[in-house]
Amino acid sequence: VWPGLTAFPDFSDDVTHEWWYDNLKRFHDKVPFDGLWIDMNEPSSFVDGSTVGCPDTELENPPYTPGILGGLLRAKTLCASAVQKTSSHYNMHSLYGLLEAKASARNLLSVPLVGADICGFSEQTEEELCVRWTQLGAFYPFTRNHNSIDQKPQDPPVFSPSGRSAMKQSLLLRSSLFPLLYTLFHRAHTHGHTVARPLLFEFPKDVRTYGIDRQFLWGKSLMVTPVLDPGVDYVVGYFPQGLWYDYYTGDSIRSKGEELRLKAPLEHINLHLREGAVIPTQRPNTTLFVSSGQPLHLVSSLSEDGSAGGELFWDDGESIDTFETDQYAHVVFTVVKNTMTSEVLHDHVEASYITVETASFYGVKVEPTRVTVNSHDAAFTYRANQVLTVTDLGLNLSQNFTISWI
Ligand SMILES: *[C@@H]1O[C@H](CO)[C@@H](O)[C@H](O)[C@H]1NC(C)=O
Ligand SMILES: *[C@@H]1O[C@H](CO)[C@@H](O)[C@H](O)[C@H]1NC(C)=O
Ligand SMILES: *[C@@H]1O[C@H](CO)[C@@H](O)[C@H](O)[C@H]1NC(C)=O
Repeated sequence: VWPGLTAFPDFSDDVTHEWWYDNLKRFHDKVPFDGLWIDMNEPSSFVDGSTVGCPDTELENPPYTPGILGGLLRAKTLCASAVQKTSSHYNMHSLYGLLEAKASARNLLSVPLVGADICGFSEQTEEELCVRWTQLGAFYPFTRNHNSIDQKPQDPPVFSPSGRSAMKQSLLLRSSLFPLLYTLFHRAHTHGHTVARPLLFEFPKDVRTYGIDRQFLWGKSLMVTPVLDPGVDYVVGYFPQGLWYDYYTGDSIRSKGEELRLKAPLEHINLHLREGAVIPTQRPNTTLFVSSGQPLHLVSSLSEDGSAGGELFWDDGESIDTFETDQYAHVVFTVVKNTMTSEVLHDHVEASYITVETASFYGVKVEPTRVTVNSHDAAFTYRANQVLTVTDLGLNLSQNFTISWI
């Protein structure tokens, strides 16, 4: 869409839903698309309200307005008093995207696939901003660097070697977490869960999480604490009560529900794993197509009692409705009493091409004397920060296995 060239249909009217469906169907008959990208999901305009102004009413000038864009409700959109089928635009503005999604849901939809324009759209970006934004944007469910016309290029190769390398690292990090991301999208599809979620969704009893808009989670366990300010090499993040682990090192943090100051040099984005998770990661490569056959690395963050759990949903990455047509693998990982069990609950040939190469366990309090994989002795390393790592596993993902230590 482009403001000024686009008509914004009134999705609060059922007739619009029929019209929308007819148009999508006509298009689909010609181009059998798999998905719809619905961009700019609210009426947007380059003028405030309308070219002839807005009526001087209470809807236009309510006593309380947001402290942005001059406090004008009509800024860059319709007059608040514009009439929609169901109600005034004042009441409907924030529902516009939802109703558009509802009208689209008979075909398809993927509302969780969202993300802002990395490095910024309007006006010039600069390197530090773009690096920090790429690190954050690698954790948007939908990752896209997007520039406006007539601006300087802002794709990673145009920056200095260190900036470029920091951006590359964060995109590879995203690729390495792709098995987790894909599984979260599966959950979104089948259960309506969110992929990225605010802390308050997971910690509803902790009122301190309610106002947090500078941190978020992937699923229930991976916490992202990006740097959003210029010129700093640290960031303050809130850690809800419990045991957390630095994702990269496995160093543990026992929080009583407190804010912590974290190191955040330019090439680093802080990631923490909540206790009790097993997340599937993979060796990354330059595109998801080549990454998707790479060996897996399972990372377990043990809770105080030594338990953890997680899962992997996997299919060919391309076919539609694989869950509905049984063309997928579903593997569940559980850790209890010094034993990880991987159980294939639903098998599919896609899983048989993939191996589990490495398993790391964060929070193994006592150094093991022996590690066994399917009852055979295995080599392992143990670090003083209580991280147990078992490498060169070569385990077939489509077969159940156990890893134990004593
Ligand atoms: C991607 O895979 C190719 C082929 O296996 C390999 O040569 C290359 O080093 C990999 N790239 C990364 C970033 O791992
Ligand atoms: C793998 O584990 C699942 C779940 O416990 C079980 O149903 C299945 O029979 C196991 N497969 C094999 C080959 O033992
Ligand atoms: C993994 O196991 C399946 C049987 O469960 C087998 O068909 C497949 O060939 C095995 N894959 C490898 C790489 O050995």
